Amino acid sequence: MAFRLSSDPLSVPPAALRIGAVVVDPPLLQAPMAKFTNYAFRQVLRRFGGVGLTATEMVSARSFLAIGARRDTFPERLWGVLDEPRPLAVQIWDNDPAALAEVGHRLAKEFRASVVDINFGCPVRRVSCNAESGSYLLRYPDRVGEIVRRVVAACDPTPVTAKIRLGPSESRITAGEVAEAVEAAGGAALTVHGRTARQMFRGQADWDQIARVKEHLRRIPLVGNGDLRSAAAVVEAFRRWPVDGVMIGRAMLGRPWLFAQAAAALRGLPVPAGPTIEAQKQLLLDHYDALVGQFGAGRSTVLIRKIACCYAQGSPGARTFRGQVARVSTPEEFRRVVSACFPRQTGERPDPGGADF
Ligand SMILES: Cc1cc2nc3c(=O)[nH]c(=O)nc-3n(C[C@H](O)[C@H](O)[C@H](O)COP(=O)(O)O)c2cc1C
Repeated sequence: MAFRLSSDPLSVPPAALRIGAVVVDPPLLQAPMAKFTNYAFRQVLRRFGGVGLTATEMVSARSFLAIGARRDTFPERLWGVLDEPRPLAVQIWDNDPAALAEVGHRLAKEFRASVVDINFGCPVRRVSCNAESGSYLLRYPDRVGEIVRRVVAACDPTPVTAKIRLGPSESRITAGEVAEAVEAAGGAALTVHGRTARQMFRGQADWDQIARVKEHLRRIPLVGNGDLRSAAAVVEAFRRWPVDGVMIGRAMLGRPWLFAQAAAALRGLPVPAGPTIEAQKQLLLDHYDALVGQFGAGRSTVLIRKIACCYAQGSPGARTFRGQVARVSTPEEFRRVVSACFPRQTGERPDPGGADF
């Protein structure tokens, strides 16, 4: 998708999105991202506003059931879910309709998830090839339908959504058939990432293909996803393609204020500037402290290395900072590196990264 960005506001801002009874306003969704969109990140994101729906990382239904034999324990990725603000989507993955239905039921009833989302897009080998789940299922629209039907019945009245890619490969685009299966099975919304599984994160998201999926849906909203990196790109996505909502992933990781900027732009309001460099440094330190609250200092110091690189991405001086922060191994070292080496200027941030997923 080569966006030619126009600075004109939309004549009418897009309406709030409805996922079952859940109102997503503005229609800007936070992408679920493994190892990133944990409780700490969601807390940081909420500070800035503009997000219509937050989401957990994907949770394996099988490991949920393995752990869930004891009712007081649950997967680490559900940390914080019980207490945090709504609306919040919890994403699950597997290929077994019964396991997904059981976990969906518990998420809806015990965890009070606003939305249960099923992952049919993950292309990583562990999930796709080895576990025949995620994007592997894009070859089998009937199986997708069966899964969605079972999960919908188990979660009722909590809405169930699906997140897909365009298909297994460029020569096998199945998103239209999969969309029909999801809708017929009672799914409440569909998100399409405009790449195939084979592409992983290469090339550009194909928004014309995302738009084609709309022709296969009669009732439920379509959410477009892929390569949205600025408020202007979000406005342009709504202007050019028949999507009801958009989802933002990699670009939000170091710029959690992007949603607030996009929300303003959609309303034709002035786009607020991002925080000052000092405020960004403080935000990164706060993000780290929130991680420590969940994971403890040792693991948080490993997790923050990649996150800190996202905060600095695209800025002059980012390379030096990356080199330093990638080696920190104690909280003191991390704080010293942020204080001494965090880039002094923000840049254009042309590449949101994440290509290693
Ligand atoms: C590090 C990483 C982790 C991801 N984890 C998930 C996940 O848990 N569930 C999911 O549906 N998609 C996951 N995705 C895909 C994103 O949700 C999103 O579809 C993709 O990054 C494209 O959007 P973007 O161009 O705005 O980043 C992940 C992507 C990355 C880079």
